[in-house]
Amino acid sequence: GTLLKQFCENSKGIRVARRYSSKINKCRVSIVGLGGVGKGLAHLLKMYPANITELRLCNRSDPEGMVQDLSHIPTNVRTLGFAGAETLSEGLRDANMVIVTTGVPRKGDNPREELFEHNANLCRDVISACAKNCPEALLAIVSNPVDSLVPLAAEVLKHHGAYCAGRLFGVCTLDLMRARYFFADAVGLRPEKVYVPVVGGHSEKTMVPLFSRSRPRLLLPRDQILELTQKLRLAGKGIVLAKNGEAGSTWSMASGAWYFVQRLCRAINHAPHVVATAYVESEVNNSRFFSNELLLGPDGVEENLGYGPVSDLEEQLIAEAIIHLQSSISRGKEFVAKFT
Ligand code: LMR
Repeated sequence: GTLLKQFCENSKGIRVARRYSSKINKCRVSIVGLGGVGKGLAHLLKMYPANITELRLCNRSDPEGMVQDLSHIPTNVRTLGFAGAETLSEGLRDANMVIVTTGVPRKGDNPREELFEHNANLCRDVISACAKNCPEALLAIVSNPVDSLVPLAAEVLKHHGAYCAGRLFGVCTLDLMRARYFFADAVGLRPEKVYVPVVGGHSEKTMVPLFSRSRPRLLLPRDQILELTQKLRLAGKGIVLAKNGEAGSTWSMASGAWYFVQRLCRAINHAPHVVATAYVESEVNNSRFFSNELLLGPDGVEENLGYGPVSDLEEQLIAEAIIHLQSSISRGKEFVAKFT
């Protein structure tokens, strides 16, 4: 393997560089779906491949033009295209990681949940193909509605005897990015210098920013917390409206997926202390799936870090989110039950 560098804090809180050796020599990543998000993600991964050796682009229409275009970016990642359902198996075979961005985005004023009817079928077919062709891969679902599609994927994998809870993720990184941006803007700091955990799910009623745990720790008044929470929850819809109802977020969503994939790549390479937030099956509360910080390792979730103590207001928001999550989770599960 190659020698990689990671920065971490030593016991005195000083940032030091640590070197670690990557234990796997190949990392094959498949992106399924080349809409705005899939395309943006493919571009970012070709530009900044971390340890990715092969990037496979699987799409309904032929991605050859994009593959050739990307291949002129001189990084050491082989880019391959796979067109149509017939070649999907080949595009997934023995992949180490699959990023699912397939499906339609929101177009009008509707919530993400309304995409379920359309995207559930696509997600089921892609995940079945993953179960058959790359049962060991880490699977990251970006398509909406994440809150239902991840539980749906879990059921499909179980049906094929290929489910491992620690390997299936719903990508919620964009919520953390937005929370940083809104918080930084409100308190007059640079977005790169702040952090706000976001837990729950990825919908208007399920994402819960934990301002009580922000870094730096600045105590905001209740009204401002509620206002910022609402801003975060409506941010996705705001983009759809700003794009005149023609598309949802693409650049920010692709960047969020890219951040998450980078984390998974480090984890696959046995880097120490890889922490990321994602929506996974969990026991942190009575929602069967929940998003919060996770410690990642080569096989996916090594430890679910939960979310620790929160304020009374956050506890109330989490309790409300759980009710909505439970119904989204049942929806995903019931959809698969109809076909099995
Ligand atoms: C987002 O948060 O921007 C995405 O989930 C897309 C959407 O429809 O809101």
